[in-house]
Amino acid sequence: MRRLRLVVIGLGRLGQACGETILKAQDLQLAGFVRRPESLDKPLPAVFRGIPVAASVDVFAAIDAALVCLPAGRVGECMHNLLQHGVPVVEPGARADETPYDLREKLHGLAMRHQVRAIQNAGWDPGALGMFHALFALLIPKGSTEVTGRPGISLHHTLTASAVEGVRGALCTERQAADGKTQRYVYVELAPGAERERVAAAIRSEPLFLDEETLVFPVESIAALEEEGAGVVLRRQGSAGGAGHQLLLLEARFDGPSLAAQVMVAAVRALPYMRPGAYLLSDVPLSLLRPGHE
Ligand SMILES: NC(=O)c1ccc[n+]([C@@H]2O[C@H](COP(=O)([O-])OP(=O)(O)OC[C@H]3O[C@@H](n4cnc5c(N)ncnc54)[C@H](OP(=O)(O)O)[C@@H]3O)[C@@H](O)[C@H]2O)c1
Repeated sequence: MRRLRLVVIGLGRLGQACGETILKAQDLQLAGFVRRPESLDKPLPAVFRGIPVAASVDVFAAIDAALVCLPAGRVGECMHNLLQHGVPVVEPGARADETPYDLREKLHGLAMRHQVRAIQNAGWDPGALGMFHALFALLIPKGSTEVTGRPGISLHHTLTASAVEGVRGALCTERQAADGKTQRYVYVELAPGAERERVAAAIRSEPLFLDEETLVFPVESIAALEEEGAGVVLRRQGSAGGAGHQLLLLEARFDGPSLAAQVMVAAVRALPYMRPGAYLLSDVPLSLLRPGHE
């Protein structure tokens, strides 16, 4: 199997997550990093010891794609230069003053002229989260979607839930639903052998929790959850055909750069199967983004 040779441009949080993801993938090879001149002498994180670093992508031979991990204002120009030099590009949806559609419009002709491919918005948000939005709207065509960011921030301990049999620890937060009603989200770490449905029912039937709708989410570690800052709840409710009161819920906690890096790498794997041109992540068939597709 020929491995795809990749260059990561910009070694910040996302660049590092991309580099680590590439190193762990058997079908990918990390050719090197492109860094600003002032960063060239900075020591590399230990995991990248021995990986070449240069000020320009030209130094690297036979590159299959570049992953652009730069601040928003630097992305458009960088992509333009890469495409002009025939280097396929993936970027995570970072730009300052133009919409992704404007940038795609601008880059598409260039990509066609140089017979090369680019995928934009290949991150988590923007990126994969938008695909969840689209899928939720497809499944519940009439309704409203609500996104709440960073639920981890307002979590507090709840003795009521922690005292329920089978619960090792519990954290709780309250939020407003689209209809104005308050909902309670309870995150529980289960004791070994505890049944999640039984625990959830016991928590919901606690007198203190009867006043508001209570949703119970089992998690691996309450301590880890407390430390996490990034998270999102995507909720869509409405009707699908003749059926009312449909509800879809995505509750996500994650490290942003790590998730975005997974999407960038998936886009890299899809690149060779696309026709030359510039695309948004949402233009790429899901079948091409899945690992191991042929
Ligand atoms: N869609 C998503 O889900 C998602 C997720 C995470 C990040 N992003 C986007 O990806 C981009 C990178 O994010 P990040 O968190 O990795 O940012 P970061 O930690 O600030 O890293 C950016 C890197 O770009 C390089 N750079 C080049 N020109 C620069 C300049 N003029 N000023 C500062 N740095 C410059 C630097 O690397 P060197 O020192 O090596 O040159 C810097 O470490 C951002 O635009 C962010 O919005 C998107």
